[in-house]
Amino acid sequence: MSYKDYKEQMVKVADISYTVALLSWDQETYMPEKGAGFRAQQIATLSTMAHRLATGEELGKILNDLNKNSSASLPEKEKRNVVRSLKDYNKQKKYSPEFVEQLNRTASECFQAWQKAKKENNFNLFAPLLTAMVDLKKKEADILGFEAHPYDALLDQYEPGAKVADLDILFKDVREQLVKFVKRIAAAPQHDDTFMYKLYPKEKQWKHGLELLKQMHYDFDAGRQDISIHPFTTSFNALDVRVTTKILENNLKSMIWSCIHEGGHGLYEQGLPAEEYGLPSGEAISLGIHESQSRLWENNVGRGLPYWKANYMRLQEIYPENLKNVGLQQFYMAMNKVEPSLIRIEADELTYHFHILVRYEVEKKLIGGELKVSDLPEYWNACYKEYLGVQAKTDDKGVLQDIHWSHGSFGYFPTYSLGSFYAAQFYNRANMEIKGLEQLIEKGDLLPLLQWLRGKIHKHGKFYSAEELCTAVTGEKLNFKYFMDYAKNKYSAIYNLNKETA
Ligand code: CO
Repeated sequence: MSYKDYKEQMVKVADISYTVALLSWDQETYMPEKGAGFRAQQIATLSTMAHRLATGEELGKILNDLNKNSSASLPEKEKRNVVRSLKDYNKQKKYSPEFVEQLNRTASECFQAWQKAKKENNFNLFAPLLTAMVDLKKKEADILGFEAHPYDALLDQYEPGAKVADLDILFKDVREQLVKFVKRIAAAPQHDDTFMYKLYPKEKQWKHGLELLKQMHYDFDAGRQDISIHPFTTSFNALDVRVTTKILENNLKSMIWSCIHEGGHGLYEQGLPAEEYGLPSGEAISLGIHESQSRLWENNVGRGLPYWKANYMRLQEIYPENLKNVGLQQFYMAMNKVEPSLIRIEADELTYHFHILVRYEVEKKLIGGELKVSDLPEYWNACYKEYLGVQAKTDDKGVLQDIHWSHGSFGYFPTYSLGSFYAAQFYNRANMEIKGLEQLIEKGDLLPLLQWLRGKIHKHGKFYSAEELCTAVTGEKLNFKYFMDYAKNKYSAIYNLNKETA
């Protein structure tokens, strides 16, 4: 068996999987409504084919043989590919078809129950199925295996290597430092952002979004932007990476930052080595690292003053009726308004992490058996009160707000926070290594930053683990200090707080 045999098999799996991705992209963007039934069938058939190939005996034989007999003679990158693929293969093999069937069925029932419960604002309609889902997820953790905490096994599916032991430290910092800091902001006078919610016509917003992507050097010859209900990025290979956006006519903020966010995801995918198609070395490292790329562009660049020094005049030119009397500084302060809210997707970049903190604590306790589903609404509300100082009056706005749990996605949420924290640490490093970075951004020259990200992060694919990458790029493991420093510097100025005591 040779490395070539391995590569051939992996490319076949990728061909089918990315075809599924293309069908899903079409489903979310252009597919006519009546096509839904057959489309679901096509996606299910192809997904089963991909799964069979990825867990088939032929690939297993090749991987085990390569790993045993010739991995010593392979170059480092190829060796790592084989090891990672074998690990994935063995993991997939642990699932019995019966368990997968049960999980899929429960997810579909759980999703329907969640929809009804949310609509009728009645948690009791959701509770029995959520209990069944949590039990299945505990079983899944046992199937996959873990050392310290069952939640580790679930985290690992989204963020390989992530552990409760490390996240506990990270979220303790969030609880102790960020919660306190935001309480100081909440006590300061608030900035007026009402001009953000005037009428911003769709057509103008659409064109503006394209300009922003071009400025980031998103490659339109290897991608495109379309409209969907929820913005997302999808890739079929590094030379065909698509982003979508959503436009709200009475909200200037929504499109701008989601466009930059998805653009950041898109740049990562376009920067992966196309010649490594189908192999770990051609893929993104983890959800957390993926999110670090979107957040770096969205927050560290796109919500920064240098970026708007370059772009605000153009924005005023597009919307003179709304912005001609709003100065740059006023715009900057308004767009960075910090205000606790009930839902993550509308949160500012600081209180955002409190939503994740609540999810993390809830999930860890549910999977660890420390919290019962029946006690969930009360626990949820207590956490919101403690961390955000706000409380949902009804469960549909609280514990029932989000779809993730009904799908069984336990372990997903922490990657959102990890992404922002990695982003702060990477950006801090970029600022040290790229001479005059912020002056370049002020001029609208974003290429040096992109080139830095390409060379340090994108081009490596999954050669490194998240932790190895972070150490290789910044000289140390993920450290919350960088995010906290960024937050304090930026928001002490915006809210006129004394930095020493912040
Ligand atoms: Co994202």
